[in-house]
Amino acid sequence: MIDNPQTLSSQDLMDLENKHGAHNYHPLPVVLDRGEGVYVWDVEGKRYFDFLSAYSAVNQGHCHPDIINTLKEQAEKITLTSRAFYNSKLGEYNKFITEYFGFDKVLPMNTGAEAVETAIKICRKWGQEKKGYPEANTKILVAANNFHGRTTTIISFSDDAVAKNGFGPYTPGFEAIPYNDLDALEAALKDDHVAGFLVEPIQGEAGVVTPDSDYLRKAADLCRKHDVLFIADEIQTGVARTGSLLAVCGSCSCEGHCERQASSYVRPDILILGKALSGGAYPVSAVLADDEVMHVIKPGSHGSTFGGNPLGVAVAMTALDVVRNEKLAQNARRLGELFRAKMNEYIDESKIVKLVRGRGLLNAIVIDDSPESDTAWNICLRLRDHGLLAKPTHGNIIRFAPPLVMTEEQILECIAIIIRTLKEFE
Ligand SMILES: Cc1ncc(COP(=O)(O)O)c(C=O)c1O
Repeated sequence: MIDNPQTLSSQDLMDLENKHGAHNYHPLPVVLDRGEGVYVWDVEGKRYFDFLSAYSAVNQGHCHPDIINTLKEQAEKITLTSRAFYNSKLGEYNKFITEYFGFDKVLPMNTGAEAVETAIKICRKWGQEKKGYPEANTKILVAANNFHGRTTTIISFSDDAVAKNGFGPYTPGFEAIPYNDLDALEAALKDDHVAGFLVEPIQGEAGVVTPDSDYLRKAADLCRKHDVLFIADEIQTGVARTGSLLAVCGSCSCEGHCERQASSYVRPDILILGKALSGGAYPVSAVLADDEVMHVIKPGSHGSTFGGNPLGVAVAMTALDVVRNEKLAQNARRLGELFRAKMNEYIDESKIVKLVRGRGLLNAIVIDDSPESDTAWNICLRLRDHGLLAKPTHGNIIRFAPPLVMTEEQILECIAIIIRTLKEFE
């Protein structure tokens, strides 16, 4: 233990992390100590707008009082039972979340990557049991430039050299096709052993790459035509982030309680959620599907000691209640439109920003410089100095994803900070 840790400066704390921890991240140099709503504070007491929201896990804002109350209450009662026994929260949660998202069944896990692994297993088993594919040939289609996590299987179908190279041998059974390319999907679906197509409705890590408005609908239709599972990874885009409950809800901002009547709704066969499912208070992820698909899972075929624990599921129910009660999808939609409109006004005259893209409050700007330059990183350092925290993603792209509890007044203040900072780099 360290004597008087409260006396350590930001520099001391960064040195400690770097000396004793693996260097698997390259954090922006700022040490956060406290968070509330859209704000975070560093150890020296400086306040910042959080424009990353822990990669879209803190949609409900930092330390939302309802979520923290549930966390405290449940933590004092029981936290973990394992699935060796039933617990008094899981049944309630299973009913709650399946009704909330409109599926027959849920399989609870903890992290996003685990939930993706779960969906892959379900899809493969479905292909083999329901379609009679031989185990060795069962195939899942994925999109190029995907990001679904960093486990051994998931990196096997990634084309991010840093995440992948040197970690082989890789798991077979995946084929990557270009994103937002229906012809490529249709051609790949001609293969006789395709069990599913795994896709992000918007590619967040790749730089908030947003597909054509009819891509998801047509991709889902093609999967249906070929009797192949359409699997949506909404770990980053889900839970109101893109201005609707799910990004596959398209233009619908009903918070997911309209029985999905919206013509734009694309229903995945398997839905993968994580991150904001717990509002950032506890790792909770979930895979949702109907009985016909979920029935392939039998006792012993999949599980996790912590998956479905009473603490996590209690937190998740409150986190989802907050999304509905505070109309976070509507707020994300409205503020997102404002953000892009104001940024576009600036971009018309900007010498440094090429474009802004995104949906709801998942947006990115593309800096007009070579992807190898460190301009985006330097802009993020300057944004930090001006009291706003954001991070580059893939070269010269900066993602902007504030908590969805932001007000119009706050986002206008943030837009002013961002534009002022960008002008300093022109
Ligand atoms: C689309 C998507 N899938 C999966 C993951 C992995 O989630 P986790 O980091 O919780 O394992 C992420 C994380 O950023 C993601 O954005």
